[in-house]
Amino acid sequence: MKIILSLLFLFSLHHAKYIDSKACEECHENIYREHAGSMHHKSSILKDEVHRKVAEITTPDKYSCALCHMPATKNLAGVIRGMDQPNPKEIRHQDGVSCFYCHQINNIYHSKAFNINFTSYRDGEKPIFFGNLENADDSDQHGSANHPFYKNSEVCMGCHSHKENKYEVQVCNTLDASNKRSDCIGCHMPKKPGIIEKFDKKSRTEYASHEFLGIHSEEMVKKAVKLELKRSSDGVALTISNKMGHTIITQPMRLKFVKTVVTRGSKVIWSNFKESPIEDKEATFIIVFKDDKGDATMPGSARGFKVQQNLEALGSKTVNYTIDGLKKGDEVTSTWISYAVNPKIAKKLELTDMSVAQPIKGSSVTLVID
Ligand code: HEC
Ligand code: HEC
Ligand code: HEC
Ligand code: HEC
Ligand code: HEC
Repeated sequence: MKIILSLLFLFSLHHAKYIDSKACEECHENIYREHAGSMHHKSSILKDEVHRKVAEITTPDKYSCALCHMPATKNLAGVIRGMDQPNPKEIRHQDGVSCFYCHQINNIYHSKAFNINFTSYRDGEKPIFFGNLENADDSDQHGSANHPFYKNSEVCMGCHSHKENKYEVQVCNTLDASNKRSDCIGCHMPKKPGIIEKFDKKSRTEYASHEFLGIHSEEMVKKAVKLELKRSSDGVALTISNKMGHTIITQPMRLKFVKTVVTRGSKVIWSNFKESPIEDKEATFIIVFKDDKGDATMPGSARGFKVQQNLEALGSKTVNYTIDGLKKGDEVTSTWISYAVNPKIAKKLELTDMSVAQPIKGSSVTLVID
C-alpha cells in the first residue's frame, strides 16, 4: 500500500490541462448525454448518497475511496491520505469517473488488494484519447489513438476487478468464474445508432453506448438470470442460471432473490418465504460481513463472511421445493427481484433517497401443473 501511494504521489505531480466532461458535449453530444446520467458521472462522494454515507462511516477523515470513485482529482494521493478534502467547487471532484480520465488509462498495476490505473496525461501536452475506432480523426481538442485495453475490457479492471479491505477480506469482485475479466464492453457498452461526433467526417452510423447500465436498470436486471421451473415428484425444481460475466453479487449493498408462489384460482396457496427472502436461503443472493465478534458489519470493518450466498459467472443451481397437494391447474410462478440497496442497509444508513431500496422486477417464469 505504501509503495502504491508513493507511486500515486509522484504521478500526481504531472498536470495536463484538465478538460471536464461537459466540454466533450460540444462534439460528442450523444455520448455526453448518456455519460451525464450514468453512475460513472455520479460516482463521487459529492454526488452518490449511498457511497457518501458508507464512506463517512468507513473512513471519516480520509477519502481513500477517491482512487476509484473520484479518480480525476489533481492531488489524488493527498485526498486519499486526508491532507486534502473533497471540494464541491473543484470540477475534477464533481466529475467522478470522467471522460478525460477514463480515456487516458494506458496501464494497470495488478495487486492482491486492488488494482491501480495509470494514465498517459502529461503536463502541458495536448491529450491523446485512446479508443477503438478504426482510422479515427484527430480534433483540435485532442489526439486519438487505438489501445487494446479499449477492446479487451482491461480498461475496466483498474477499478472493477476486486477489492480487499484492510483486514484482507475481499469486499467486491467482478471477475469471472476462472478469476479473469470477461467481455465487460460487449455487455455494458452496446452499439447504438447515431453519430459519434458532430462533424461525422467518417460517416459513422453507430456509437458505443456510455450509459453503463447495471443494477439500477430494469432492462439490465431482466438480463441477469434465466429461471426454469420443472415438476418434480414431490413439488417443483427451480433452476437459476447466472447469465452475467461475473458473480450475481459483485457489491455487498445489493440484495437479489427469486420469489416463488403457487396460486390456485386467485388465491396464493404456497410461497417460498413469508416475511423475508432470506427464509429461503438457497434462492437468495446476499453477502453479510462479520466483525471480530461475529456480528453483522459494514465492508470496511469486515473480518470475514457471516452469510455468503453467491453464484459464479455463467453458473447455475437448482433449488428443490416440496409442495404438498399440488393439483392440476395450479400455477407456479418464479420472479427475479433485485434491490440496488438492501432495504435493511438503506434504513441503517438513513438514506434520504429511498428509491434505490425499491424492488426491480427481473425475468419471470410460470409453470401450470397438469
Ligand atoms: C478499487 C476501486 C474502488 C475503491 C478503492 C472503492 N470502490 Fe466503491 N465501488 C467500486 C466499484 C467498481 C463499484 C461498482 C461496483 C458494483 O456495482 O458492482 C463501487 C461501488 C460502491 C458502492 C455502491 C454505490 C451505489 O450507489 O450503490 C459503495 C457504497 C461503495 N462503492 C463504497 C466505497 C467506499 C466507502 C470506499 C472507500 C472506503 C470505496 N467504495 C472504495 C470501486 C472501488
Ligand atoms: C472539437 C470537437 C471535439 C471535442 C470538444 C472533443 N472531441 Fe473527441 N473526437 C473528435 C473527433 C473529430 C473525433 C474523431 C471521430 C471519428 O473519427 O469519427 C474524436 C474522437 C474521440 C475518441 C475516439 C478515439 C479513438 O481512437 O477511438 C475519443 C475516445 C474521444 N474523442 C474522446 C473525447 C473526450 C473524452 C472529449 C472531452 C474531454 C472529447 N473527445 C472532446 C472531436 C472532439
Ligand atoms: C476509474 C474507475 C473506473 C473505471 C476505469 C471503470 N469504472 Fe465502472 N464504476 C466505477 C465506480 C466507482 C462505479 C460505482 C459508482 C457508484 O455507484 O457510486 C462504477 C459503476 C459501474 C457500473 C454500474 C452502474 C449501475 O448503475 O449499476 C457498471 C455497469 C460499470 N461501472 C461498468 C464499467 C465498465 C464496463 C468499465 C470499462 C469500460 C468501467 N466500468 C470502468 C469505477 C470505474
Ligand atoms: C454476459 C453479459 C455481461 C458481462 C460479460 C459483464 N456483465 Fe456486468 N452485468 C450484466 C448484467 C445483465 C447486469 C445487471 C444485472 C445485475 O446487476 O444484477 C450487470 C451488472 C453489472 C454491475 C452492477 C452490479 C451490481 O450488482 O452492482 C457492474 C458493476 C458490472 N456489471 C460490471 C461489469 C464488468 C466490470 C464486467 C467485465 C469484467 C462485466 N460487468 C461483464 C451483464 C454482464
Ligand atoms: C468508464 C470509462 C469510460 C468513460 C467514463 C467514458 N468512456 Fe468513452 N469509451 C470507453 C470505451 C471502453 C470505449 C470503446 C468502446 C468500444 O469500442 O466498444 C469508448 C469509446 C468512446 C468513443 C468512440 C466511440 C465508439 O463508438 O467507439 C468516444 C468518442 C468516446 N468514448 C467519448 C467519451 C466521452 C465524450 C465521454 C464522457 C462524456 C466518455 N467517452 C466517457 C470508455 C469510457
